Amino acid sequence: PATGHLACGGSGVGRLPEPADIVREMEETQARGKTLAGKKVLVTAGGTLEAIDPVRFIGNRSSGKMGYAVAQEAAQRGAEVVLVAGGTVALADPPGIRVLHTESALAMREAVLQEAADAAVVIKAAAVADYRPKERAKQKIKKNDAELTLVLEKNPDILMELGARKRETQILVGFAAETQNLLAYAQEKLKKKNLDLIVANDVTCPDAGFNTETNLVKIIGRDGSIKELPLLSKQKVAKTILDAIESLQK
Ligand code: CTP
Repeated sequence: PATGHLACGGSGVGRLPEPADIVREMEETQARGKTLAGKKVLVTAGGTLEAIDPVRFIGNRSSGKMGYAVAQEAAQRGAEVVLVAGGTVALADPPGIRVLHTESALAMREAVLQEAADAAVVIKAAAVADYRPKERAKQKIKKNDAELTLVLEKNPDILMELGARKRETQILVGFAAETQNLLAYAQEKLKKKNLDLIVANDVTCPDAGFNTETNLVKIIGRDGSIKELPLLSKQKVAKTILDAIESLQK
């Protein structure tokens, strides 16, 4: 929807876009064609949920919107899309996409390793918890002492495992959410995890990152290329990410 004055008297998102804009968008979509037809694209989205007891968990602020936008864009380009969602995602399943709902990092890992074997492209937009509670209490933990100590153990790094077993023709894309040294940390992750591209965003920037409609990212290539995008809707960021992936395939 377009933004501006609304019939209810307010102002904001909700106007019917100009017919000319709708037609242009349709023409653009059609012109792009089914450039990913016959390819399997695996996307992960959202935060993982690490259970403490039957009612509590450790989570993060990732909504899954960026990963869902990437999955939808890949489907529009004709790909066979598998979307693995983490436990904190509360979005509707997009039509025409096989969605696997998982809860924890361990469950996401199992689904991803299975689906990645024959995927041409893997895009890991999920915010995977680096640690999980070592013990998962069978019953709800009752309040008792003044302090409660939770011991956490490390989760496997799914992206690192995918990088280690990457096939020659497979394209692997990671995300890096940082609060400082964005470029340096992202480039380090790209190398360490054997990625082809990394999408880096500074999550301290308002309107970008977790649970927002827009994102401000830099797309960094294995060849050292850096593409800085302006603040864009997550749909437009998704398009640019897929354009970058397609140009690697040529
Ligand atoms: N990732 C993953 N498995 C993990 C942690 C991260 O697959 N256990 C993936 C994410 O999906 C993302 C990328 O790795 O594509 C970067 O995640 P991030 O948390 O920013 O990086 P880390 O490697 O965990 O490094 P750090 O937490 O030190 O910043």
